[in-house]
Amino acid sequence: MPQNLELRELVDSDLDVIFEFECDPESIQMAAFTSEDPTDHDGFMAHWTKIRASPIVTIRCIVRGEEVLGSVISFEVEGDPEITYWIGRQYWGQGVATEALRLFLETVDTRRPMRARCAKDNVASLRVLEKCGFKVVAEARGFANARGTEIDELELELGGE
Ligand SMILES: CC(C)(COP(=O)(O)OP(=O)(O)OC[C@H]1O[C@@H](n2cnc3c(N)ncnc32)[C@H](O)[C@@H]1OP(=O)(O)O)[C@@H](O)C(=O)NCCC(=O)NCCS
Repeated sequence: MPQNLELRELVDSDLDVIFEFECDPESIQMAAFTSEDPTDHDGFMAHWTKIRASPIVTIRCIVRGEEVLGSVISFEVEGDPEITYWIGRQYWGQGVATEALRLFLETVDTRRPMRARCAKDNVASLRVLEKCGFKVVAEARGFANARGTEIDELELELGGE
């Protein structure tokens, strides 16, 4: 699906839009592994200030023209790169996540193996990852703030053994 998407570095004014996307109740339920209170603006700002300053975090905004559609982020867990993403609900189901992830993996962070995680019942995210070549390598249980309980989580890898 042609998207005319671009990835660009984050600027301060993107944060309002990203905060709005990340406050959406349906998105929060889906992502499951969120902060304790995603609607806490101070907490959001503190987190983004920290990750923007971190040398082991790479953030890109997904844009179409002037419009911000979401974000893709890679970070490191014990030295290994891992990826995550979030699309505004009004843009779901148009192939945005798949195309943005592909672009990020081809042009922004080409380290492999690249890891990812998602709630086992987040079928949309699992599908996005599989379409980009990730394979499920493990299952785990983790406490999901958005669900207030432990749930099944999938661990995925791209370009591993
Ligand atoms: C998960 C998310 C990134 C998907 O974004 P998107 O732009 O709608 O994804 P795409 O349009 O690229 O869709 C990719 C695939 O998922 C499928 N899909 C999308 N939404 C779906 C849904 N709600 N249920 C089932 N499948 C879905 C699409 O049909 C497509 O598969 P196909 O090509 O085989 O038809 C988006 O819903 C989101 O940001 N959710 C909240 C945050 C989140 O969960 N982030 C991931 C944390 S691991």
